[in-house]
Amino acid sequence: MTEIAASVLNADRTKWKEWLPQLEKAEVDRIQFDIMDNKYVPNTGVPKEFISELRPHTKIFFETHLMVEKPEDYIREFAKMGSQLIIFHVETTDDPLKIIKKIKAAGCQVGIAINNRTPAQKIFPYLKKVDLALVMGVEAGFGGQQFNNSALNKILLLKDQIYDDALQCAVEIDGGINAQNAKTAIENGADVLVAGTAIFGSPKGISQAVEELRRGK
Ligand code: DX5
Repeated sequence: MTEIAASVLNADRTKWKEWLPQLEKAEVDRIQFDIMDNKYVPNTGVPKEFISELRPHTKIFFETHLMVEKPEDYIREFAKMGSQLIIFHVETTDDPLKIIKKIKAAGCQVGIAINNRTPAQKIFPYLKKVDLALVMGVEAGFGGQQFNNSALNKILLLKDQIYDDALQCAVEIDGGINAQNAKTAIENGADVLVAGTAIFGSPKGISQAVEELRRGK
């Protein structure tokens, strides 16, 4: 079953007491926190304190998407705050294995991400070492962007590699995912769909928006 991760990047953080129960009712599988350093991407993302604020109030799986120049500097702190999976960008380190080891040492699952212009092949060597591969559907840094269809082939390539090597790595697509392209992403093999605008900005409400994504309406 395709998993849905709600990205809170553009959610109204003052109203979490309203939408967190709605995410639970919609049986969202994950909540994704986009952490940005205004260096790797020209944005500041979600305040790190927001993870600690939400953690005690839900059992939903928390994943932290690090869009920062030095991911190694963030791992322990976000693990302590309650992230269960930490995703770093392969473009932000010359030693991905070192980052993978640090995330595992912090007791978290590991995700490795490729930005819009990075080929899928860049992370093939690490798929056996991580729990999740994140493919950006947009240029990292902002929610609400148009999906870039070139991401679909990357999902296919990663899924083929995972199958050929009999690995357990999930493939996640993040950025520009909505009710109109969810089905195509799922057909191309996406195991997890990350959506922010399509969930929190939907006039149909969170439950229906999540259902339409999961069903690939
Ligand atoms: C970009 C972010 C976005 C966010 C979801 O750096 O990673 O992808 O999570 O964005 P939308 O609003 O397009 O679902």
